[in-house]
Amino acid sequence: MSTSSTINKQPIYLDNAATTPIDPQVWEEMKPYFEDFTANPSSIHSHGRKAKVAVEKARKIIAGLLNASPSEIFFTSGGTEADNTVLQSAVLYGGRKTIITSPLEHHAVLHTAEAWSKLGLVELKLVKVNEMGDVDLSHLEELLKESPNALVSLMHGNNEIGNLLDLHVVGNLCQQYGALFHSDTVQTMGHYVHDVQILPVDFLVGAAHKFHGPKGIGFLYAKAGVKFSPLMHGGAQERNQRGGTENVYGMIGIAKALSIAYAEMAEHQAYIKGLKAYFIEKLQENFPGIEFNGRSGEVDNSLYTVLNVRFPNIADGDMLLFHLDIAKISVSGGSACSSGTSIGSHVLSSLNPQATGAAVRFSFSKYNTKEEIDRVIEELKNR
Ligand SMILES: Cc1ncc(COP(=O)(O)O)c(C=O)c1O
Repeated sequence: MSTSSTINKQPIYLDNAATTPIDPQVWEEMKPYFEDFTANPSSIHSHGRKAKVAVEKARKIIAGLLNASPSEIFFTSGGTEADNTVLQSAVLYGGRKTIITSPLEHHAVLHTAEAWSKLGLVELKLVKVNEMGDVDLSHLEELLKESPNALVSLMHGNNEIGNLLDLHVVGNLCQQYGALFHSDTVQTMGHYVHDVQILPVDFLVGAAHKFHGPKGIGFLYAKAGVKFSPLMHGGAQERNQRGGTENVYGMIGIAKALSIAYAEMAEHQAYIKGLKAYFIEKLQENFPGIEFNGRSGEVDNSLYTVLNVRFPNIADGDMLLFHLDIAKISVSGGSACSSGTSIGSHVLSSLNPQATGAAVRFSFSKYNTKEEIDRVIEELKNR
């Protein structure tokens, strides 16, 4: 438990799947827009035009990184809004009669799909997943066959267990059966290259706070020719697709954050993967019988930022999280949405409801170090 020795210890942040610290270069880019007056980009006077130029420059930067056209990028408040936009639009205006998704999706997709299905406006079909969290692709094909005109929403990288979906395989299947394909790429945007000229996807999403940008800003990529309708009705902003005065500061921030992420991706991938591999090795050395949920323990076959650990010999997960918190180590028991409440993870319970032992999600960023990992191991040993 907590001792006076923890008082002088530096805090360790290993909850980067929940959100990441802002990169100082991103803040430097945003700062002038706070210091100088930033007008409403919809205003037609010179102040407004200056703000509009900044917004369009940010859009162009993001489009360039995704190999998209600027007209395919729509700014939103984050991942949740972008996901909701796609699902609502498909149901209310797109004539989609079925949403096919998985029980492992983030609640931004799962709860939204459930809400529309409860209203009787769409049929919700869940594709089967196995104990490792892999999507059953033959079941997906069966569902596609029996549901013409569906919207498929399957995430690229799972925020809890780090499983990665093959977007090419799923996208090609969707095309074969005339389904729209939306992938929640919140956890992988800025961590992997998304080239929309190659990917067979209709919608992708990004949230700046997952790649060292500010909170409250994200975007939706909607493929040219694939129509969608706004979630937020109001002004003519975002080419009539998202009403509301633009978050100019956020747009500057997300464009800078994504530029840095792309420029330094190979270096950060290798570095973070190395940290994860080191952590796995140390955990296995010190805690015999330790298990990893989903594919997260397979360094070359999972999201390199996420490691979901099961300690079979520790019954009380809340106590373990509490102990780490007292030791100034921030981690999560599931996704951030369920930590701090007694609700267990819907992802882990879908994989293996019988599994016992404390589950902890450690998630890494470019700012973590081996020394931090060593200290986490010591704290776990001394709990
Ligand atoms: C996979 C996934 N989708 C969607 C979201 C929601 O994004 P935001 O918090 O930007 O609304 C998150 C955030 O945790 C996420 O991990």
